[in-house]
Amino acid sequence: MTKEKREYHCNNCNYRPAKWLGCCPECQEWNTIQEHTVQPATYVKKAVAVPLVPLRDIKLSTHHRMLSGIQEWDRVLGGGIMPGSFTMVTGDPGIGKSTLLLQIAQRLAATHTVTYVSSEESLEQVAHRAHRLGCDQESLLFSDNPYLETIIQTAQEQKPHVLIIDSIQSCYVASGTLPGTIGQLREAAFHLMHVAKEQNIAIIITGHITKEGTLAGPKLLEHMVDTVLYLQGEERWHVRLLRAIKNRFGPIHEVGFFAMQEEGMKEVHDINSHLLSQATHAPGSALISSLEGSRPLLIELQALTLPTKFGMPQRVVSGIDPKQVMLMCALAEKYLRIKLTTYDIFFKVSGNLRLKESNTDLGILLALLSSYFQKALPEKSIALAEISLTGHLKPINQFSLHAQEASKFGIQSVFVANCQKTDILKSITIRKFNSIYDILSLFD
Ligand code: TYD
Ligand code: MG
Repeated sequence: MTKEKREYHCNNCNYRPAKWLGCCPECQEWNTIQEHTVQPATYVKKAVAVPLVPLRDIKLSTHHRMLSGIQEWDRVLGGGIMPGSFTMVTGDPGIGKSTLLLQIAQRLAATHTVTYVSSEESLEQVAHRAHRLGCDQESLLFSDNPYLETIIQTAQEQKPHVLIIDSIQSCYVASGTLPGTIGQLREAAFHLMHVAKEQNIAIIITGHITKEGTLAGPKLLEHMVDTVLYLQGEERWHVRLLRAIKNRFGPIHEVGFFAMQEEGMKEVHDINSHLLSQATHAPGSALISSLEGSRPLLIELQALTLPTKFGMPQRVVSGIDPKQVMLMCALAEKYLRIKLTTYDIFFKVSGNLRLKESNTDLGILLALLSSYFQKALPEKSIALAEISLTGHLKPINQFSLHAQEASKFGIQSVFVANCQKTDILKSITIRKFNSIYDILSLFD
């Protein structure tokens, strides 16, 4: 007979010591280490083999996604919520998760049955918020029961199309430990995943993250759910970004923009007009277009160059890889004989954004040259090209997407590589350049 095995693990951080300890050596919490008896693995002998099926015999059900009509949300999810999917919305406390989900619930309830379980706030608090947001749908039902087993039982009986649990960290699981501990979160997520798949209920949970993004647990749940959405604040713009970090049923890195207002979260469709209104037409400034998910953002790059006074030139770069800026300086020095290496260089991306794409090359070089020559670039123009080490301009991907968005917001000319394939756009002038020698004509 195989012997039972004993295991120990910390309820707070999931650390697994070899023996019982009063204080966890990993998270320093007291009395969090619990003993578990692990049953010997006898199931292998008892299990019965299952029949295997070829691909052609697997039935494909056509699921109709649930559209909320809040386009920023629907787009981030890849065209609405998939029935039977398990989604987690995380973000700092107070960022607007409950508000957004209540609005989604209200919209979805026009055509679906929605259950909203508020394990964190009382029904009265939820009702206050719901009145403020104008929730009035009959098929939107509420509960403030924090016990997961009860929530699951209710969902199995009622079979709503959508079940929202706000938040997973304040739900109790029968094992008796405090809500929010790692073990509980895991268990809760495991049960909910089963309910979602078996009952074909779309489940949405919320979870808090700490500044480090790990301690509160949602990181741990990321691999257990189908979709992870992060709601982030962008203080400078007063907008909230909803970002898909993981998405089993749609694109990742898609972004939705919202603004928190008196009457709840409002969609921001024209983020580019907001970005452009902050751009300055002055020496050292260049506009580029960069993809955030599938959406092109019109972003201002700012450069300041001035001769170095004391020995080592200064390089202060933010929002972009400093090496990319240094590479553009090297190209200017090699091919244009502009000695930027003896200049202090300050470079930033407006709006506190971070850029990763290489199609910003031309924009960076133009911003640097514009500051160097102290001459502004033509007004309402954007730069869309990569630059090779030989100084030649290279085409970018998805040009039309960038150009169409730019023309929508009043951009009049776009600078591209000579070999860039361009559609004919009425409202925009396309200026083509072969190499970086040619772009000097912009500063004549
Ligand atoms: P909330 O949705 O409770 O955030 P979370 O669930 O992520 O913790 O939103 C909290 C903040 O939003 C709070 O400071 C009040 C503010 N708020 C508004 O500005 N307008 C509104 O219509 C609502 C409902 C909240
Ligand atoms: Mg909340």
